[in-house]
Order: sequence, then structure tokens, then C-alpha cells
Amino acid sequence: MDSTVSLKTLIDELEILEKEAEKEIKGAIEQESLEKLRVSFLGKKGRLSVLLSSMGKLPGQERPIIGQRANILKTGLLDLITKRQESLKSEDLKKIIASEAIDITAPPSGIPYGHRHPLISTTDRITDIFLGLGYEVVEGPEVENDFYNFEALNIPPNHPARDMQDTFYLDDNLLLRTHTSPVQIRFLENNPPPVRIISPGRVFRRDAVDATHSPVFHQVEVLAIDEGLDFSHLRGTVMAFLKEFFGDLPVRFRASYFPFTEPSAEVDVQWRGKWLEVMGCGMVDPAVLEGLGIDSERWTGFAAGLGVERFCMVRHEIDDIRRLFNSDLRFLEQF
Ligand code: DAH
Repeated sequence: MDSTVSLKTLIDELEILEKEAEKEIKGAIEQESLEKLRVSFLGKKGRLSVLLSSMGKLPGQERPIIGQRANILKTGLLDLITKRQESLKSEDLKKIIASEAIDITAPPSGIPYGHRHPLISTTDRITDIFLGLGYEVVEGPEVENDFYNFEALNIPPNHPARDMQDTFYLDDNLLLRTHTSPVQIRFLENNPPPVRIISPGRVFRRDAVDATHSPVFHQVEVLAIDEGLDFSHLRGTVMAFLKEFFGDLPVRFRASYFPFTEPSAEVDVQWRGKWLEVMGCGMVDPAVLEGLGIDSERWTGFAAGLGVERFCMVRHEIDDIRRLFNSDLRFLEQF
């Protein structure tokens, strides 16, 4: 350029520079590239400075013309950069707003799923097995009266069996049921034999809390009445059920006593080298049937009652019954 520097060529070149810069600034799509453009066109070592460094070769009176022209160009371009910066900012903002917008019509995502409490799933498992054996599920009230909870089950007032089943009384007659056995009576009152029912539910006793006792727990009652049922049917049913639930754990029947069954037995399974009592059972006492107006010469039957907590604890190797009631998610999430 040296030898050909003239006012005209410099002005031409300034115009070229201006057009290019304008075009690039308008086309910039990021804040950072705008800064780079500013440096490369208007910075200390930028194209404008390079151009102006040849101004010294112009005659003295022509220099201010170029100087003035360059200043206008510079302010114009800086102005353009600022404007572009602002519009980019608002475009960014629009993009952010668009990307962060909440679509309230979208389906929810990432909702944690709950699942059944181990006591419920144990009850379900027990119920399923008996449904498979042809039993029907019935329920009874948790608030019972003395007649259904005790008397109709051959447990008169002052009978020593009441000691083991002290409970919470609402008044002299109403109480929280101590077992699911009253459902036997309620069902037989309205449904003549033959019957095959189970009744799962919550029961209550005045027990202090420890690793194996809780004042609230759950039972499943079993009742079958038909012509010709005897102890072998009871045994066969209990064995089939336990095998289905526990697999091949050893089982034993032990003679026992319940006021509403005769003969009665308790059933143990061998678990971790020890015999563990899992249910009570027996042939329904004829006195119970006669009390309901059922001919005990014709109809016989068996009954059984089991504690759901115990089944659940063996099934899941849980060492303390309180874990089943204190709703600690760290524990419950394991099932
Ligand atoms: N109701 C008894 C209890 O809670 C358990 C029981 C034992 C129920 C023998 C029965 C049975 O139906 O035949 O201790």
C-alpha cells in the first residue's frame, strides 16, 4: 500500500472495513464472537489501527479528514456491537424461558413407586394359598362384643382362658377383639354348613411391647365345616398350607387346649434349629356348633388360627416385631 497511499484509497479501505465489520457484527450469534469481532476490527492491533498507521504518509492537511472519518466509523461500529449484544441477550433469555417452561399438561415423571407392606404381602400370600384350596375370604368387625369374642366360643365369664386374652374394653360389653375366631360364629350364624372360610384381620391384646409382642397384631382364621370331616382333614390341610408357605421345613403337631376346639393342637415348624409355634388348631367343639343350632352329629369341622407377624418374620428373617409397625422406610424399602 505504501507507495499508493492516498486520501482516496484510505477512504475506500475504511469503507470496505466498515461494511465487512457491519456484516459480521449483525451475523454474530454469540456474545463471545462479538467481543472477538470488536478486538479484531477496533482493538489496538486490529484492522482499523493497521489502516490508520499508514495515515502518516498523507499530507498534513488530509490527515484530520481520515481521523474524523475513522472516529465516526469506530463509534458507529461500537454502537452496533452494543445493540447486537443487547438483542442477543434478549434472544438468550427467550431461549432460556422456552427451555425452562413448565408444561403442566405433560405426564408426570419420576414419581417414586410405593409397594405393599410386608405384613400385607404375607397376608396376601396366605390368602392365596387358601383360595387355591377352595376357601372363601370373609371379614368381621374389630370392635366386638363379649358374646362373639368369648362366650359363643365356649369361653364363659371367669374362664381362665380369658386371662391370656385380656384386651381393651370400650364398655362392659364392647371390646377390641382378641382374635379372629369370632368371625367363625358370625359367619355360621348366617351361613349354614358346609362352609370353608378364612378370615384375615387385626386383633388386639393388653400386651406390653417387646421383640415378639405387640398390642396390635394380625391373624388369619380358618374354618371348615362339612359332613365327615375329621382330624386327618385338618392335618392334611395344615400340612399342605405350611408346605406351600415355608417349603420343606419340618412340621410337628403338639396336643394343646382351646375352649372352642376338641381335640386341639399347636403346630410348630423347625426354623434355625428351633421349634417355633406358628398356629393353633383343632376340631370345632360340638358345644360351639350346638350353640349355633347346628347338628353336631351330622356336621363336623376344623378350625385354625395363625399369627401373620410370625409368618412374616420367619419368611423375611425379621428379628423384631416392632420393625413391622414403626414405618421406617429404610427398613420397609427392602421388601
Ligand atoms: N384364637 C386362638 C388365639 O388367638 C387361635 C386359634 C386356635 C384359632 C385354635 C382357632 C383354633 O381357630 O382352632 O390364640
